[in-house]
Amino acid sequence: MTIDTTRVLTGITTSGTPHLGNYAGAIRPAIQSSTQPGVDAFFFLADYHALIKCDEPARIARSRLEIAATWIAAGLDPGHVTFYRQSDIPEIPELCWMLTCVTAKGLMNRAHAYKASVDANAAKAVDPDDGVTMGLFSYPVLMAADILMFNAHRVPVGRDQIQHLEMTRDIAQRFNHLYGGGEALFVLPEVQIDEEVATLPGLDGRKMSKSYHNTIPLFEGGAKALRAAVAQIVTDSRQPGEPKDAEGSHLYTLYRAFAAPDESRSFRAALEQGLGWGEAKQALCERIEAQIGPMRERYADLMAHPEQIEDVLQAGAAKARRIAVPFMARLREAVGLRSPSGAAVGGGRPATADGTRAGRARIVSFRDEDGHFRQRLFGADGAELLLSEPFGDPKRLNGLTRSLVGRDLSGLPTDGDGLVRLEVDGQCWARIPADRLGAVQEALASLSTARVG
Ligand code: TRP
Repeated sequence: MTIDTTRVLTGITTSGTPHLGNYAGAIRPAIQSSTQPGVDAFFFLADYHALIKCDEPARIARSRLEIAATWIAAGLDPGHVTFYRQSDIPEIPELCWMLTCVTAKGLMNRAHAYKASVDANAAKAVDPDDGVTMGLFSYPVLMAADILMFNAHRVPVGRDQIQHLEMTRDIAQRFNHLYGGGEALFVLPEVQIDEEVATLPGLDGRKMSKSYHNTIPLFEGGAKALRAAVAQIVTDSRQPGEPKDAEGSHLYTLYRAFAAPDESRSFRAALEQGLGWGEAKQALCERIEAQIGPMRERYADLMAHPEQIEDVLQAGAAKARRIAVPFMARLREAVGLRSPSGAAVGGGRPATADGTRAGRARIVSFRDEDGHFRQRLFGADGAELLLSEPFGDPKRLNGLTRSLVGRDLSGLPTDGDGLVRLEVDGQCWARIPADRLGAVQEALASLSTARVG
């Protein structure tokens, strides 16, 4: 992983069937941006999130398939991006718990989604928390885990999610402060709101949304369902031959989202010159069909062969876990869930934030039981070579480490216990048995080519 790639990550809650508005507003731009150079894209099916708002197992199961098939049919290249299902990554709920333990309840009290439920309950004069589950209440923490697990730099979402990104940054900062030992364990993600992207009007002119029951289907139901929906788009009563207000019509807005600028201009001119609404709807169907028709066959094929979808998702999960598993081991180490040998329990060997595995020497920083900053040095074989002395100031510790990296360790003093003191200007970084000096020197030398601290 090189420094100049940007990790872009977003999740799609699997509780519905994708409609045309989802396609133009989220799926199409996300796939487009994933092909840009320097973008390392992560797309996932947020199926644990779906459980918060939907308790119909069949709906959840169906939606997972539909959404996965839609993204693949719409041109997502699973070889190029990391495309996975949240529930296939057990490290996400594990991280969610660690984050839950550093998240202030007061922060969650301020979440819009929760407050909306409380307000609705107040209006109905029932208990403020009526119908509020812990899933709904702590949902922003799960979202933070989704994002921080992969240290995403940018998160493209809708405006309604801005607050969740702010909370993610808050939680990440708190965790870094408590456990980072002066080092940022988590990247602070930036929210990305695409102003350019089309927000499609639905059949009644309000924003196209499942909750308004005004959607135009994307693939489900085929070309026939598309035509039937377009026929229901609300227009005014002007007759063929009468000039239409193109700019003010939803039909024109929809058309523009699927047409090149010059096509849109001639469509607009035709409306202003009296094109009938019936014909205009016909033209709109053709435009949409030209773009999504070819994808529909692939969609149908995938839906008929769910095992193909499963293969793609399993490969994606394996790819995602190559990052999540070692990173989780490092986080376990950081919070103190360690085995006696110093290696983190359960998650395998410690590794670095960018997901590189053991295979080269590395330093893991953490805060010990007394709140002091310490480091462990691991050799390329993953064996722990030393535990540093405790430091109150993480910068001092890092500075000391840096000045020892690549240095010749011969001639250092030995203390009363017969341990060699790895020190600079009288400041002791760690004390080690003399027979380990060679291994430590080698590990530190290999670090001089890598990043430290
Ligand atoms: N909460 C998001 C939504 O409703 C979906 C989501 C879950 C998400 N986890 C995420 C989006 C992580 C971005 C990053 O739209």
